[in-house]
Amino acid sequence: MTAPDIRNEFADRVAVVTGGGSGIGRSIAVRYAAAGGTVAVVGRREEPLAETVALVESAGGKGLALTCDVRDAAAVETVVDGVVDRFGRLDVMVNNAAGNFVVPGEKLSANGWKAVIDIVLNGSFHGTRVAGKHMLEAGRGAILNTIATYAWHGHPGTVHSAAAKAGVVAMTRTLAVEWAARGVRLNCIAPGPTETEGAGAALWPNQQARDRVLASVPAARFTTPDEVAESAAFLLSDRAAYVTGEVLVVDGGQWLGKAIYTDPDSK
Ligand code: HXC
Repeated sequence: MTAPDIRNEFADRVAVVTGGGSGIGRSIAVRYAAAGGTVAVVGRREEPLAETVALVESAGGKGLALTCDVRDAAAVETVVDGVVDRFGRLDVMVNNAAGNFVVPGEKLSANGWKAVIDIVLNGSFHGTRVAGKHMLEAGRGAILNTIATYAWHGHPGTVHSAAAKAGVVAMTRTLAVEWAARGVRLNCIAPGPTETEGAGAALWPNQQARDRVLASVPAARFTTPDEVAESAAFLLSDRAAYVTGEVLVVDGGQWLGKAIYTDPDSK
């Protein structure tokens, strides 16, 4: 068996990445472009999207910036339909846009809950629904949803995000089965603590919080958006053609590490 040549594996392929203006979304877009792909990055603010497009183009791909709030189903539809009109196809949809903040459950307002559910759960559905329509027509496509392991173990302070991400996993697995025979794969990626502006400011806003997070990771380090993007590229490629309905955890062992290791040699 010869190893596949993956250097140009996304040549002539087209992706949409939401939350593409920063962090993990930006890295996934650039990684896709580095293997020859065309990428439309979607986000609320023009400036960071334009920066991603510049990076996409210097990585060797074609880029396009599209402003849209993923909470708006009609806007998501317009954006994705527009990409298909312009490039003639849609191979990949990455629902990566997220909203999150740390708050004790009893202090979370109804509107705070709604904001996060709307971005994460409803936004991922809007992207999946409209991308799925094109992909099912074409008989091929890969959808990737960014989640977090607290989708199954929960996490004090982020009840809204944990509930939303759990919903995204259920949506992914349900549609993976519905659409498997029609050539459309859906998977999730669950990054652990990642050095990004968004997550850092929201989830470990000070040194003490940062140290606590770091102590929870068996690999004893944060991950980087580029490292997460490498795993995402696998799931989006034909190398993962038989992988659907799966969650790839990229967390340095963080969630498994909750079990306490008793070192027999320690005094
Ligand atoms: C309590 C808060 C709050 C906070 C907002 N709210 N921030 N409540 N503590 N820190 C409440 C507001 O009071 C309001 O409710 C409601 O939430 C909506 O707030 P708005 O600011 O009006 O909403 P909006 O402008 O739409 O902003 C959405 C957002 C915001 C989610 C609140 O933070 C956002 O857009 N973030 C995007 C970037 C982001 O969060 N990235 C991090 C993703 S990292 P009231 O009742 O007052 O009207 C991630 C990784 C997890 O998810 C994985 C880790 C391992």
